[in-house]
Amino acid sequence: MDAKKREKALRIFAKVLNDIKPSKLETEATTASVNKITSELLKIVPKDVEIKVVGSIARGTELKGNSDIDIFLLFGKKVGKDKVTEYGIRYGKELAKRMGGRYEIRYAEHPYLRLYIPNIGADIDIVPAYKIINITEMGTTVDRTPLHNDFINMHLNDKQRDDVRLLKALLNSHGIYGAEVKTRGFSGYLCELLVYHYRSLLNLLEEATQIKLPYYLNPLNPEEKGSKEIFEKFNSDFVVIDPVDPNRNVAAVVSHESLSKFIVVAKMFIENPSEKMFYGYKVSSADSYSMLRQYMKANGLSASLLVVPIPDKSEDITWPQLKKLSGAIVDYVARNGFQVYIELVTVKDKEGLVLYMYPSASAKTRMLKGPSVPGNSGAALSFINAHLGSSIIFSNSTLYVMEKVRYESMNEAIADFIKREAHKKHKDIKLGKAKLASTIPERYAEHLYWELLAKTSI
Ligand code: CTP
Ligand code: MG
Repeated sequence: MDAKKREKALRIFAKVLNDIKPSKLETEATTASVNKITSELLKIVPKDVEIKVVGSIARGTELKGNSDIDIFLLFGKKVGKDKVTEYGIRYGKELAKRMGGRYEIRYAEHPYLRLYIPNIGADIDIVPAYKIINITEMGTTVDRTPLHNDFINMHLNDKQRDDVRLLKALLNSHGIYGAEVKTRGFSGYLCELLVYHYRSLLNLLEEATQIKLPYYLNPLNPEEKGSKEIFEKFNSDFVVIDPVDPNRNVAAVVSHESLSKFIVVAKMFIENPSEKMFYGYKVSSADSYSMLRQYMKANGLSASLLVVPIPDKSEDITWPQLKKLSGAIVDYVARNGFQVYIELVTVKDKEGLVLYMYPSASAKTRMLKGPSVPGNSGAALSFINAHLGSSIIFSNSTLYVMEKVRYESMNEAIADFIKREAHKKHKDIKLGKAKLASTIPERYAEHLYWELLAKTSI
């Protein structure tokens, strides 16, 4: 990157930071909230349980109005695992009651509480864990988090913390921030480690344009190279070792799609630094319906929308189920000659939405591949006999038959799949209650248009 571009990039960073970094006033309000919560908790939890504020707020890497308050209740090792959860949840509920708020029990590796308290803008997570000093004492996977805190607070300077914020905003605006199953993007901690290793955001973006797979990074030992055994051990070709736990790959959930998007975003920014890249796409409810229609028309696409009721569970549980079902549908229609161009799987409130977009004109026939003829005359003849009345085609030495497709339309194929599968168990997804539409109802337009942009634009 030449000096002029570099200067421009740094100017953009400074400007964007102004928008995304919490103001002094906001930080003071957050600190006051955290203090209030902590002092209430002190009245509830016994002395030997440590209250520790962790996550981005405790590290100075949080985004304006966007971060949760993460509070850990740390228990001694003599308390059993079941008790840790039981007490943690009990104290959290008591806190909600004292502060006049409400709570939800959430499930990660073990249960924790999410609190919503009046006059506190952020969600509050109360997470029970063990108090450990060394990773060898780890009792639950979340025990690492306070150690992450210590590592980041020890190693990042203020400038780098701001760079983490910028990185989060950049990834956010391209739909690749966060480790949730649906996103499979970069977690906050991974952002922190990348800025730590590459020293600055600009440096990280420049280096990211060169990322090749397999990729290995051990922040504590930058010279170390990944070996076949390491990639096998983590069952991944994108490995970032957790400095507090050599047995954990911090990048384990990052999908190739998210990684590729990041590399392209980095390349675009390095070639042509632009402020817009930090702000994402603007979707307004007023015109998303017509934008969706316009997109389909311009690309000659039709749509099928499947809507299914979803139980009130974490998206990390329901989304993969929906995605699996959708994948089975895509395979089924493909076997019947229909190609899905765009598949969107998303949960909105208590409904799962699966949208398919595909070419409006569909073929009446499909090519079915048969055997290669030389050395297989018997199989070739059986293939021909099995498709009497159909058009047989020789392509080099291979036989094909042109077969009429079973369904007139994509919708018909999907509807038949649902009919066949509806009585079977699909965990939380009640396929029997699914509704299929070939036009997108306006009430879903804004949500789906946003998903479409996240999937199709850079
Ligand atoms: N954590 C983790 N792995 C995850 C999710 C969370 O190790 N997949 C730990 C990290 O130490 C993280 C902390 O839990 O910093 C809090 O998680 P979260 O609130 O999701 O992330 P933050 O770092 O606080 O970032 P954000 O600004 O998005 O809240
Ligand atoms: Mg957080």
